[in-house]
Amino acid sequence: MRIILMGPPGAGKGTAAESLIKHYHIPHISTGNIFRELYKDRTKVGKIAKEYIERGELVPDDITNEIVRHRLSHSDVKKGFLFDGYPRNLEQAEALDKMLNDMGWTLTAAINFSAPDEVIIKRISGRRVCETCGTVYHVTNKKPKVPGVCDHDQGRLIHRNDDMEHTVRRRLKIYLNHTEPVIGYYREKGLLITVDGTQSIEEIDQTLKKVLGEKT
Ligand code: AP5
Ligand code: MG
Repeated sequence: MRIILMGPPGAGKGTAAESLIKHYHIPHISTGNIFRELYKDRTKVGKIAKEYIERGELVPDDITNEIVRHRLSHSDVKKGFLFDGYPRNLEQAEALDKMLNDMGWTLTAAINFSAPDEVIIKRISGRRVCETCGTVYHVTNKKPKVPGVCDHDQGRLIHRNDDMEHTVRRRLKIYLNHTEPVIGYYREKGLLITVDGTQSIEEIDQTLKKVLGEKT
């Protein structure tokens, strides 16, 4: 399984990823999570990325593609992988094609989540993430067992810095201008699977496992 998850901010990519990576035993490669980790570790790249993330803009392609190239050099990707939030523009999609081509690999599917802006704003305003492991919760849709505390490692649940409404609106605009064209790129390659992101977490999970199951 070599999967890409695409879709606007808050559409549910990270949530769907959590279940799919367990089901298929493949690593989760979220460029957003990698940038947040690099910042937490006080690296130079992390600090640069943070400036873009907090403005709701894309981190430059040379940095992002290099992060992905490095991640794909780890041995765990030999069993497959799930990209979440990459590629995010046509330049990144072409760069990924080159990387995969060099490794003699092809993609299994590119899954696109669709969701209207009102749903996205509601989801993001209720989202809480574990400050240590990054697990994603929601105050009503996906509650932790103990409010404010992560089920997995008891970490504190916080708001992401880029989840303020004006930053989310900027992210949505960037999505429309830069990321939406990538949908057509994968449609032309016959890899696109579109998912109605407004369904429940369970419905999306079942749909994806069924559609992906037919591809194996
Ligand atoms: P990233 O971390 O990738 O953020 P994003 O794409 O904006 O997406 P989100 O993580 O906000 O949403 P999601 O779709 O994962 O939704 P979630 O499952 O959490 O990127 C952050 C930033 O990093 C970017 O803005 C950019 O600056 C930079 N960056 C990252 N990748 C880059 C790249 N390739 N190139 C350049 N820059 C890059 O769900 C949201 C909420 O809804 C949660 O609370 C969840 O519990 C709830 N929920 C989820 N699904 C459902 C459902 N079906 N029903 C009800 N509630 C649900
Ligand atoms: Mg996410």
